[in-house]
Amino acid sequence: MAKTINLTIKIGNLTFKNPVTVASGTFGSKDEYAKYVDYAKLGAIVTKTVTRKPRKGNPMPRIFETPSGMLNAIGLQNKGIDDFIEYKIPYFKKVKTHLIVNIAGESVEDFVYLAKKLDPEKSVSALELNISCPNVKKGLEFCAKPELAYEVVKAVKEATKHPIFTKLSPEAHDFLGVADSTIRAGSDGLSLINTIRGMAVDIEKCKPQIANVFGGLSGPAIRPIALRYLHEVKRRFDIPVMAMGGIMTAQDALEFLITGAHLISVGTANFVNPKATMEILEGIETYMKRKGHQSIDSVRGTLKVKPDSESLLAPAG
Ligand SMILES: Cc1cc2nc3c(=O)[nH]c(=O)nc-3n(C[C@H](O)[C@H](O)[C@H](O)COP(=O)(O)O)c2cc1C
Repeated sequence: MAKTINLTIKIGNLTFKNPVTVASGTFGSKDEYAKYVDYAKLGAIVTKTVTRKPRKGNPMPRIFETPSGMLNAIGLQNKGIDDFIEYKIPYFKKVKTHLIVNIAGESVEDFVYLAKKLDPEKSVSALELNISCPNVKKGLEFCAKPELAYEVVKAVKEATKHPIFTKLSPEAHDFLGVADSTIRAGSDGLSLINTIRGMAVDIEKCKPQIANVFGGLSGPAIRPIALRYLHEVKRRFDIPVMAMGGIMTAQDALEFLITGAHLISVGTANFVNPKATMEILEGIETYMKRKGHQSIDSVRGTLKVKPDSESLLAPAG
């Protein structure tokens, strides 16, 4: 009789039914993808960033397709925490998977306010702290310096009983210092990576393709960078990572799992193929059967790196 494959992952007190989640801001704000994906089959749903007050977002154009990726400068458009609690939570309550709510603020106080508001919500499994949005004023402020990252995570940790994933960006100059400080402040996991600022030009109008000039680059173009940061984190810290950056297929997802990710998030791929998450899940199972893995835990971190190649990781300069 064929053995069943165990895809469950434990992070702290949470058990995820499989490692496939969706990246914040790329999966609508409620039921938009429900006709393509059975939400209950996902390991978790990560919401679009929710802020204290409603935000209109940035001026158009704020999306532009680039080679192997896209630029976006949406600017955290959302209806705010009160609307989220009143209209979105009741919907997600009925969905039988984990709900991870991504929050962002312009001050420590904003983050604490949001965490406290969500604290009584039993259908929320965890918070994702977006301290790395490149498209809003002060968006990258908290991951610019390890001390600021520490301060915000510590304050949220004290304000909530929900586990915390802190979302980081390679735009942080002292990336590993920031990762270290968020872990010391009590992050239960890290989310890696947010988009990386880029630019494109319309040569007829001689104008930037994005009204705000810069947009965050996502998609396959950033996958090698995301993998590199995941590896840098996993070789130094014992912390669960929800990994993202250009995951389009099961093969891409497996690169991150083998490098040590506990969970993977599908982002830009949802715009190209709304069923990408389900195909990735199936592909992971097919790979596990082919390789004789009975549990996803035995796939995670199987990357073989020769000890003498470690010198390649030393900072350049
Ligand atoms: C259109 C768009 C909107 C996004 N909005 C958010 C957001 O609200 N909050 C957030 O933390 N990340 C946001 N992201 C970043 C993604 O969650 C993810 O970190 C990034 O796109 C890398 O993954 P990918 O290459 O698979 O898309 C957004 C990305 C895109 C493309």
